[in-house]
Amino acid sequence: MWSTGVLPVRVVLSYCPTGVPKLGSFKATLFGQVAPSLPGFASSGSVVLKQFYKKPKNPERKNPAGSQEPIEILPSGQQIIDLSREILCTQWASALMDIVYEFITNSSQGSPPFPIPQMRFVHVALALEYRDDADTDRKVFMLEERISPHEHGGWRKYINNDSPAPIRSSISTTDLQHVADFLVFCQHVQFLQTLGRAFVSDFQGGLTLLSDPQIVTAPYLKGVFAGGNIGSAYVNFVDKHQCSKFCKFYCLEAVASVSQVERSVQSGPGSSGEVRIDFKAVSIIVR
Ligand SMILES: Nc1ncnc2c1ncn2[C@@H]1O[C@H](COP(=O)(O)OP(=O)(O)O)[C@@H](O)[C@H]1O
Ligand SMILES: [Mg+2]
Ligand SMILES: [Zn+2]
Repeated sequence: MWSTGVLPVRVVLSYCPTGVPKLGSFKATLFGQVAPSLPGFASSGSVVLKQFYKKPKNPERKNPAGSQEPIEILPSGQQIIDLSREILCTQWASALMDIVYEFITNSSQGSPPFPIPQMRFVHVALALEYRDDADTDRKVFMLEERISPHEHGGWRKYINNDSPAPIRSSISTTDLQHVADFLVFCQHVQFLQTLGRAFVSDFQGGLTLLSDPQIVTAPYLKGVFAGGNIGSAYVNFVDKHQCSKFCKFYCLEAVASVSQVERSVQSGPGSSGEVRIDFKAVSIIVR
């Protein structure tokens, strides 16, 4: 459970409910302020507020004034379910990034002749409106550290969910290419270190802070994490990952070598996709 060990805190959230949100494919994002600031967040209290919205049937349709039709925010109960899943993905993505930096620290290859980008996922929180009248629907938001263009670099999507190749149109400078090369390497390390079970995809954000990840798992683990964990994302990674200069410097084992192991786990003897793990037998004496 993502919230295990998390202590709730009471804060005041200020935002403009009539502001025009930034729309992704699933979530609407508004800027706001939280006071006091949350643990791990900027002391300025600057945050983004996210909610899932219902996809309009006709996204091109404008209202008579020529502006976009207002979006329909999903009900609070559904927000809690969907946003909790997002938070879980971000927590796992953070842990999978830790694995990459640990791998680098422990590597016997020494230091590469180029810098290692220092990147992490934003801190996140689930905010539930506090009110005495139990009858009214409480507002629910996911809060994230705000990625500001001045401080963290402009927002861009580096790698999509369905392909391991960086998005060419987003990579306009050598600095961005360097970050994209690093993220390609991150996927490869995560894949190897989890024995082909999971890696982070849908890399997006600034130069140092990332947000809104998906976790892609081996198909036999499907159904966990969020909707972006699609089987084709895994297959495409295995088939199309192209090693970057980081993969080459650290002499990473080929993706294909692990995916062979995975295939044999998935189609193990007499199984139809189940995993078999050998346990050492331990006798327990009940008195
Ligand atoms: N932490 C953040 N800081 C600043 N802008 C953000 C942040 N998260 C999202 N945005 C902006 O909001 C948009 C939609 O958010 P995102 O979480 O990517 O939604 P979706 O799940 O629909 O892709 C992004 O494309 C980006 O422009
Ligand atoms: Mg997104
Ligand atoms: Zn590689």
